[in-house]
Amino acid sequence: MILANIEDYRTLARKRLPHFLFEYIDGGAFSETTLRNNSADLQTIALRQRVLRDVSSVSTATTLFGKEYAMPLGLSPIGIAGLNARRGEVQAAQAAEEAGVPFCLSTVSACAIDEVRAAVNNPIWFQLYMIKDRGFLREILARAKAAGTDTLLFTVDMPVPATRYRDMRSGLSSGTILQRKITRARQVLMRPQWAWDVGLFGRPHTLGNIAPVLGDNAGIDEFWSWLAQNFDPTVTWADIDRIRAEWDGKFIIKGILDSEDAKQAASIGADGIIVSNHGGRQLDGALSSIRALPDIADAVGNDLGIILDSGVRSGLDVVRALALGANFVMIGRPWVYALAARQKKGVREILDIFKNEMRVAMALSGNTSVNTIKRDSLVNL
Ligand code: FNR
Repeated sequence: MILANIEDYRTLARKRLPHFLFEYIDGGAFSETTLRNNSADLQTIALRQRVLRDVSSVSTATTLFGKEYAMPLGLSPIGIAGLNARRGEVQAAQAAEEAGVPFCLSTVSACAIDEVRAAVNNPIWFQLYMIKDRGFLREILARAKAAGTDTLLFTVDMPVPATRYRDMRSGLSSGTILQRKITRARQVLMRPQWAWDVGLFGRPHTLGNIAPVLGDNAGIDEFWSWLAQNFDPTVTWADIDRIRAEWDGKFIIKGILDSEDAKQAASIGADGIIVSNHGGRQLDGALSSIRALPDIADAVGNDLGIILDSGVRSGLDVVRALALGANFVMIGRPWVYALAARQKKGVREILDIFKNEMRVAMALSGNTSVNTIKRDSLVNL
């Protein structure tokens, strides 16, 4: 089957996955207004069509924090993404490396950082949440350092997890553990090939970096309870400041949507920020990332590397974000749909799709290099 765009991978992922797993990836918070706006607002941005500029050679290559990448696109951290294919994060990290783009592992991945690191040639990026148990937080950081991680993403838009109706209904996050297990078991009966991957029958389940605190027999329910109890809502800039001081690699704050917060990120010595609303999974009703971007770029564009995620679904969207002041863009759901649809090959394919779409969008807007994509590449409506 030929799949042409990200929506095609989403459709295939929906067909293949047990219902609760698809809903977990696809859903957002509350009424999903911000989730919808993230992509819809990107679509409203008009690229400026320019002609007769010799676009026979277009390069998507770029540099971020002193490293070269094949294009300004990376894979955002996704919790338990590894359930969507056998040793899923390993497969995705390998696909990203082959495509010359960065892969970021979530704190709450299914595969541990050491396993993923051992499967690729170069260090991967690592994402950290503020966890109540500071001893455990330090242990995870030490493991990331030992794995050679030079880029740390610190996620700040989840002091508490938001309400997600789809996860409540699907058997992931509400009801008693027995009710959840029965609801999910029904779904897996229709997709039996997933029973092993989602640990349905009590198989000792690998829950990556948090396995040491969960114990060998933990599954999704234990994982979910741990999550609910261990996000630290007391977190402030002072905590971030301390971690920044202890971390000697690149430090990126993920989940900034306001220019005042962006300025504060610059003042504590972050190297970059990710303009993000967690893919519409946290504060529903918050601005879409792309609408938040211009103010933030005006405020800190000269001081910080600016990365945007949330809602990016095509190479055209990447060009739009760069034109509005981002230096780099990341994708969350698209790579997980691709992993669920076609494993590592799927992730490679969508990275090629993004690159080709970007190339075409650049050529038709008269840009032969990433550096020339600026606000004047857009039509001022
Ligand atoms: C996420 N996101 C996320 N972010 C993070 O810092 N740590 C995490 O563990 C997770 N987990 C997670 C799970 C799932 C299923 C999704 C969809 C998202 C947010 C993620 O990194 C990124 O910000 C968004 O996914 C970007 O939006 P799009 O590209 O999915 O629209």
